Amino acid sequence: MKRSIENLNERFKDFSLEEGLRNLRASGFSRIKFSSSLGQEDQVLTHVIFTNNLPIVIFTLDTGRLFEESYDLLDRTITRYAKPIEVYLPNEKVLRQFVTKHGPNSFYRSIENRKRCCQIRKTNVLEEVLRNADLWITGLRSDQSQTRQNLKLFQWDSHLKITKFNPLLNWSLADVETYLKEHSIPQNDLHNKGYLSIGCAPCTRAIKPGEDIRAGRWWWENSKKECGLHLRG
Ligand code: ADX
Ligand code: SF4
Repeated sequence: MKRSIENLNERFKDFSLEEGLRNLRASGFSRIKFSSSLGQEDQVLTHVIFTNNLPIVIFTLDTGRLFEESYDLLDRTITRYAKPIEVYLPNEKVLRQFVTKHGPNSFYRSIENRKRCCQIRKTNVLEEVLRNADLWITGLRSDQSQTRQNLKLFQWDSHLKITKFNPLLNWSLADVETYLKEHSIPQNDLHNKGYLSIGCAPCTRAIKPGEDIRAGRWWWENSKKECGLHLRG
């Protein structure tokens, strides 16, 4: 496995974004899924996948706590491209038990509650969706945070047992913004209101000039500011 990941990294390292996404099939992947949070990076990937009709399933995890602006963006995106984005919701029974026991906003009271909420609303669902996939594409960039600096273009997710592909790994935020503008790609209205990295509404706030890109996520915690989707590369 290590060997083949190394080969993929070598083979894909000089590809453009489009070339990279186009060459996945020829590299042996046939059940390819891209997880979109509808963030700026994800919108770039969605644009390339949809406009080139690439055989990649796009899905999003609807935690049930997203901003109205995010639902609006999902709507505008499927309308613009006239193609589907699969929407996955948390397991109803597990969520009901958790919220009944702890209340709707227990994440503010303890890290344990916060992690459990992210697990029920996101990571468990992701696991289900990727169960029948052989490649997972993300919109991760290495300069989004310290914890993302060691990511590779291709890597093995040892927990989900799947190869992960981060085609925007070496893009800067400026590269992403320029691309979005040049192609008039739909974006979340919250980006005009000081929000950069956007997750669930109760766990995301706007950032001030000069603050870290992810400072607005789980702002009341001093933890690594990850929900667990990407901790196990
Ligand atoms: S998070 O781990 O803090 O939530 P972030 O918002 O930076 O992640 O997004 C990084 C990548 O994780 C996205 O490009 C996307 O591939 C995936 N991701 C995050 N949240 C979701 C979501 N709700 N649905 C689908 N994919 C997501
Ligand atoms: Fe729950 Fe907040 Fe995690 Fe969303 S980001 S799943 S609301 S703890």
